[in-house]
Amino acid sequence: MEKTIDESIQGASLLLEKNEMGQRKLYIESYGCAMNFSDSEIVASILANEGFSTTQNLEDADLVLVNTCSIREKAELTVRKRLEKFNAIKKHRPHLKVGVLGCMAERLKHQLLEEEKIVDMVVGPDAYKDLPNLIQEMDEGRDAVNVVLSKEETYGDIAPVRLNTNGVSALVSITRGCDNMCTFCVVPFTRGRERSRDPYSILEEVNDLWNKGFKEITLLGQNVDSYLWYGGGLKKDYVKASKMQKATAVDFSGLLEMVALAQPGMRIRFSTSNPQDMTLNVIKTMAKHDNICNHIHLPVQSGSNRILKQMNRLHTIEEYFELIDNVRKILPDCAISQDIISGFPTETEEDQQDTLAALEYVKYDFGYMYLYSERPGTKAARKFKDDVPPEIKQRRLAEIIALQREHCKYRTEEHLGNIEEVLIETTSKKSEVQWMGRNPQNTVVVFPKENYKIGDFVKVKINECTSATLIGKAIGISDKNPQLALTNAQL
Ligand code: SAH
Ligand code: F3S
Repeated sequence: MEKTIDESIQGASLLLEKNEMGQRKLYIESYGCAMNFSDSEIVASILANEGFSTTQNLEDADLVLVNTCSIREKAELTVRKRLEKFNAIKKHRPHLKVGVLGCMAERLKHQLLEEEKIVDMVVGPDAYKDLPNLIQEMDEGRDAVNVVLSKEETYGDIAPVRLNTNGVSALVSITRGCDNMCTFCVVPFTRGRERSRDPYSILEEVNDLWNKGFKEITLLGQNVDSYLWYGGGLKKDYVKASKMQKATAVDFSGLLEMVALAQPGMRIRFSTSNPQDMTLNVIKTMAKHDNICNHIHLPVQSGSNRILKQMNRLHTIEEYFELIDNVRKILPDCAISQDIISGFPTETEEDQQDTLAALEYVKYDFGYMYLYSERPGTKAARKFKDDVPPEIKQRRLAEIIALQREHCKYRTEEHLGNIEEVLIETTSKKSEVQWMGRNPQNTVVVFPKENYKIGDFVKVKINECTSATLIGKAIGISDKNPQLALTNAQL
């Protein structure tokens, strides 16, 4: 719509005010999955071009953005509490604006702005490029909402501004959305249909990270194994792709190989894998390249075939075990982690026993375990009554967590006596004189700092462990360090 002259003048004076004030300050908070943290870096980049610098200090902020999660009710409640806090601050700092991004923005749409009036702006996960316009609308006192989901947007052309970075590990998103429609999951509704990012823009980002000194990347997607680049567009439209597009398409194992070869000194991780889409080729590519870390996050959700079917997980537990057997055969020292939901509708004690048996079969290195939370609009919410009483859900979850804890211990003990390559990330939380890093399996390792520094690959002898942490002593720098490779070459 055309602007009236009055609106234009008001806009211009606001612009002037912005320039006179210098840069405006953005305070951004992220909740939920790694993808949200990665998206916030894209948002910070888009807003840097609009004259916003980021601040870690809420008191300095002119604009607060909350990148939200809808996966469980509890995640939404946490965000609501934060929004109340920001609203309270607005009472004595009226110029402060608050925007909500991400999955809650997409799920609740206009509700937060119009009915609840607790935010000034609502932006869904595919609409971040519209932020400059939305901020102008908000500044001019109009409703600023964009929750349109896209068929193409992957933000492949945006160089993220790294937030809260240790300068060592970075997130690189490779797909957006999800087509799997697990019946309990809100993600397909909030993040839309699945699409993959151009592999060359991924390589460009990885090369740039390497040049900036980063040593480890995690390729991110709701379902990375489903990655498929055929020139852009939705995954579901691949069937309509031309012969040429199909002949040159890149799948996840192809992408992994491209990235591994492009930066042999960089550690490569990825998350999340979906059992129904993970191929043997992916496992073989991991085996082929030393720099692809031996860790697979492979959510199982339940050990019961009946529940898996109701969840619309498109595999049986036997097929899942076959995949695990293949991983063990091809990558004997690969760590495997899980997600499990306790108390899905109709779950019985027998189903619970199947889940505990699955845990016993795999003996996961670690896991993330949740109480089922009914999400409005999902198929599970529409079709099944949330009928497992809370105390039974809780008790079953406690049983799962207790068994997982035993397995964590069993797995960390397997590392005792080994010499493992650790990438140093930061000072240990428990001791100023110790470094914290991770081995390729993603287990935390702590050891005395000596003369090593953040970003070094170090060989560490593992002497002790708890159920979550390996404790050791460095015995030397690893030959993975580029400076050492150079020294060797010079000798
Ligand atoms: N593929 C995604 C999964 C997103 S959700 C990824 O990249 O991680 C992460 C985990 O949350 C799921 O694997 C599932 O175990 C859990 N989850 C999803 N919806 C849930 C719900 N309604 N209640 C409880 N847990 C849920
Ligand atoms: Fe959700 Fe299942 Fe996709 S858990 S993100 S619908 S793979």
